[in-house]
Amino acid sequence: MTKAPVTVTVTGAAGQIGYALLFRIASGQLIDAETPIKLRLLEIPQGLKAAEGTAMELDDCAFPLLESIDITDDARTAFEGTNVGLLVGARPRGKGMERGDLLEANGGIFKPQGEAINAGAADDVRVLVVGNPANTNALIAQAHAPDVPAERFTAMTRLDHNRALTQLAQKLGASVNDIRKLTIWGNHSATQYPDLFHAEVGGKIAAEQVEQSWLADEFIPTVAKRGAAIIEARGASSAASAANAAIDHVHTWVNGTPEGDWTSAAIPSDGSYGVPEGLISSFPVTAKDGKFEIVQGLEIDEFSRERIDASVAELVEERDTVRKLGLV
Ligand code: NAD
Ligand code: LMR
Repeated sequence: MTKAPVTVTVTGAAGQIGYALLFRIASGQLIDAETPIKLRLLEIPQGLKAAEGTAMELDDCAFPLLESIDITDDARTAFEGTNVGLLVGARPRGKGMERGDLLEANGGIFKPQGEAINAGAADDVRVLVVGNPANTNALIAQAHAPDVPAERFTAMTRLDHNRALTQLAQKLGASVNDIRKLTIWGNHSATQYPDLFHAEVGGKIAAEQVEQSWLADEFIPTVAKRGAAIIEARGASSAASAANAAIDHVHTWVNGTPEGDWTSAAIPSDGSYGVPEGLISSFPVTAKDGKFEIVQGLEIDEFSRERIDASVAELVEERDTVRKLGLV
């Protein structure tokens, strides 16, 4: 059975994540194996030639679901009629650049992309921001798309979630399939808080199956600083695992979470768990009927509260910086 095609725009398409992502989208892993895909690749002018090379390789795969590939350096063209926007391209932190400089440089990317999404994307558009600082870049894009429902702008913490699953599984000699209800709270940064107090392994609370010292001194920092560890080991930031997480995030958003489980995604706060309304912060979320919902009613102890608050405080600081710059 063939469904209606879905138009997917990938920004930064010629970058490392783009290269790991596009083939998986075109092969049917983003939505499902029956939905044809129309790809739009957005790059800066210097990236267009490499994007054309990637498009040649996509052609050479003869993917049955891939209907078309368009390449452009114009955001309006790239987002016209888009159903799924994967905002990967971002300005990396350069030498001597302060956090504020980085946020300002990214404002120059995510503001026009938000405007382009507002102007031309499909009514059901869903946006995932991968480019760092992802949560605040998502906030900037959202601020410039007032006609798009706010909850359609999300940022990626699924990679952190997947990292935490494997660290925990390896510690307990379990399989990732045995783990439920793990949560990443807060920012996609080193302040994030991977929470094992609600997570279950084999039906029992994960935090009760590990030593407190491992949880506090090994697990949390290993997950939170994994991005930096990959850069150190690979000489480049994570790419295939980031692309994999982007696929997981959108697939879950569209197809739902399994009964009795949840996942992590940075979505606009409704004020739950003391996170200021409107901040794009990571929460435990379920997905149903194409919508993410924050899991309600979890008890948060002092240990978790402190860590959630610290990460949320960083997000508030980032929001205040981009506010001062007039970006939100
Ligand atoms: P990369 O440098 O290999 O590729 C980025 C691409 O974006 C480049 O080809 C560049 O030309 C393009 N680009 C820059 N500005 C653009 C614009 N205005 N419009 C369109 N394209 C533009 O980087 P990468 O390794 O692919 O990583 C991309 C981003 O993802 C980085 O910000 C990285 O920090 C972030 N990241 C996030 C996560 C996460 O979990 N959220 C994980 C890994 C990486
Ligand atoms: C990651 O988590 O792997 C990346 O966000 C790291 C980075 O700084 O690009």
